[in-house]
Parts: sequence; structure tokens; C-alpha cells
Amino acid sequence: MKIIICKNYEEMSQTAAEIVAKQINSNPHTVLGLATGSTPVGMYKNLVKMNKEGKVDFSNVVTFNLDEYVGLDKDHPCSYHRFMDENLFNHINIKRENVHLPNGVAPSLEEECKAYEKMIAQAGGINLQILGIGHNGHIGFNEPGTPFHSLTHVVELAQRTIEANSRFFNSPDEVPRKAISMGIKTIMQAQKILLLASGKDKAEIISKALHGPVTTDVPASVLQLHPNVTVILDEDAASALD
Ligand code: F6R
Repeated sequence: MKIIICKNYEEMSQTAAEIVAKQINSNPHTVLGLATGSTPVGMYKNLVKMNKEGKVDFSNVVTFNLDEYVGLDKDHPCSYHRFMDENLFNHINIKRENVHLPNGVAPSLEEECKAYEKMIAQAGGINLQILGIGHNGHIGFNEPGTPFHSLTHVVELAQRTIEANSRFFNSPDEVPRKAISMGIKTIMQAQKILLLASGKDKAEIISKALHGPVTTDVPASVLQLHPNVTVILDEDAASALD
């Protein structure tokens, strides 16, 4: 595991965008796994800028997002579809047919999970997966206790996750209780993983995930078992590492 410690959020975002751009420049048909949340927003901004400057071309890139809320249509203002459109897809030269997120309003959520897993496999698997980390160590929406062999599945969100994500909604009551998420095995099958974290509030969980025991109690700790993980932290998120 390679750990890069940056001065601040801006430097973390720039460093992450450069790694993603390098991946795409070395393989224009790269399959990217993408995350939502606050952490990757700066990285997406940098990628948009690089795309506009002609430094990275998304025309053959394929993407699969980690997760989507159950019950939110893709046009819902709080859906992850919308988040991705607004933060990345609307501003880069990616082909719409190459963009994938789970459908949170599919008639059969079980079938949707299976179909999502199949689409990832048919695309040849994920070359580079971007991850953020929840305060409880979740990756995707794989909350503590999720088995390491899990594939894309329907998850019940933990109370702490509902509270953390309520900042995007009018009130915690509006946050959906369920989501579709890639499983831990789905994430671990990616060739390379880039985990980003910033801020003091992530310091403790980053220390547990990177240096603590590998346990389903801290889902991100499974990354210690992956052969190609790069972790990019700002100084605050790295402040509890020895
Ligand atoms: C988002 C996702 C989540 C977030 C995590 C951190 O697609 O899967 O695991 O990465 O909740 O969120 P932020 O970045 O908002 O702190």
C-alpha cells in the first residue's frame, strides 16, 4: 500500500486527478470505478479542467459508480446520478452510454444488482476504483459487518451514515434508508484502488483502516489485502497515523 500525504484538500485533489489522468492516458479505454460524497469533488474539478485543456480524453472511458440510493429516480436532485452529472459527466467528453450507476428505482432491486455485476464483468472489470471512506470505515455503502465476499447488493444504511449524508437533504428524515452498493468483493476485484480522505474527522478511521486489524468491523481495513492500493490523504486525515 502506497500512502501519499498532501498539505491540504487542494493538493490531495490535484494529486488524485493526476493519477486518474495518467491511468486514462496510458489506457484510453480505462474502466473507472467512481465515488460520490464530498471527498472526490475537488478531484473531479481538476479532471474537468484537464479535460477542457486537452490533457485527458474521456471519449473511450467507461465508468461504474459505487452506489445509488434506493427510491431516488436518476433526476432526483439528491440522487447520485445527478451528483455525478453535476460534478463530472456534464462537463467532460464522456459518452453517455459509457456511464453506469445502479438504478435505485429498478422494478427488481435483486435483478438490478445482478445485472450491474454482470455489466462490470462484461466491460472487462474495473481498472481503477476511486474510494472515499465513511466515519465508520464504510467503503461504497458497505457498512460494518458486511461480508468481504459480498457482490453488488441492497444495503440498509447505518444511522451514522444517514446523519452524515443528511447534509445533502433538507432533513435526516428525507435520506433514503437503503441503497444499492457494489460489494466488498466487487471493489477488491478492481486492478488498482485509489482511496482519498481529508479532514481531522477522518483521522481516527484512517488509522484503524490502514494500520488496525483486518476486520469486517472496519470495512476499509480489507484494503490492506489488496495488491495495488494508493491512499491519498491531507495532513489532517493523516494526523493519527504513527
Ligand atoms: C460514495 C460512497 C461513500 C463515501 C463516504 C465518504 O459513493 O460510496 O462510501 O465515499 O461516505 O463520504 P464523504 O466523501 O462525503 O466524506
